[in-house]
Amino acid sequence: MLKPEIEDGQASLADPQFRADVLAGLARRPRAIPARWFYDHRGSELFENITDLPEYYPTRTEVALLEGLCPELHQLTGKGRAVVEFGSGSSTKTPTLLKCVEPSAYVPIDISGDFLRESSRTLSAAFPELLVLPFEADFTRPLTLPHTIHDAPKLGFFPGSTIGNLIPLAAVDLLRAMRASLGEGAMLLIGMDRIKDAGVLVPAYDDAQGVTAAFNLNLLERINRELNGTIPVDAFRHRAIWNDDRARIEMHLEATRDVSFAVEGRAFEIAAGETIHTENSHKYGPRDARILLRSGGWTPIHEWTDDEGKFAVILAEAQGERPAP
Ligand code: AVI
Repeated sequence: MLKPEIEDGQASLADPQFRADVLAGLARRPRAIPARWFYDHRGSELFENITDLPEYYPTRTEVALLEGLCPELHQLTGKGRAVVEFGSGSSTKTPTLLKCVEPSAYVPIDISGDFLRESSRTLSAAFPELLVLPFEADFTRPLTLPHTIHDAPKLGFFPGSTIGNLIPLAAVDLLRAMRASLGEGAMLLIGMDRIKDAGVLVPAYDDAQGVTAAFNLNLLERINRELNGTIPVDAFRHRAIWNDDRARIEMHLEATRDVSFAVEGRAFEIAAGETIHTENSHKYGPRDARILLRSGGWTPIHEWTDDEGKFAVILAEAQGERPAP
């Protein structure tokens, strides 16, 4: 996941990038704050709760796909690849993959070192024979992977449809960075949520129990906690909108009345009905997904989807340095 972690009790150590993104995001029009800032300790907990919600189909659909694809995947990848997981987070889907592909090493990459070390310890205990090389880094840029796995062919793993949280331009940049990091002969196993009826999509991001609303509103609470904010959180409501033109769910925080508040001593006014845009979750039809991957330097070679076509797990191989015309 694309997320820095800040533990409770570190309010005075706010990330300077968080500060900059919030101040700039509240000042611009339309107002927007990057979704990566959802994931403080509370936000990460709420996200875990979201993945169990009856309305939030992506996680359980993807897990079922990963459990079923093993024999075919093993045949396509062969054994002995170094598995490189981008934004490994709590690595919950990883054991299913590791059992299947018999890797030579596992390299979880995450921007949050604490999270990374904890999940690496859990995985090492479950796979005592496996070489686990946690790598604390921002994977949105090309990386030099640990020398130990230099000669092994790589299998990148990017589950969860996290690619959908990026606008297509940034998604292509990220896929290219992954291609550069993993090198010649690499493969990539990626999860992508599919376009479907708004009647299914909207409830997945606006559930009956209000967990997604709490997840979205926690961003304002985090601003108050870490950036000396005075935002009246009760004056905002969660909105999830399907933007058909852009094929994405948008999450917003809408002011229900005129509000004035300060963040880091800077004053802001938001009128009733105005929103702060907090997240995009792009959905990709089968062809869209293939075009996106090709644009990012990857050739799709196999695709698994559930019976209703809700979610896809796609295996792609790195394009050569000189792709055919
Ligand atoms: C992390 N990411 C793939 C989730 C999604 O579905 O876009 C984040 C999320 N936001 C609200 N619910 C889930």
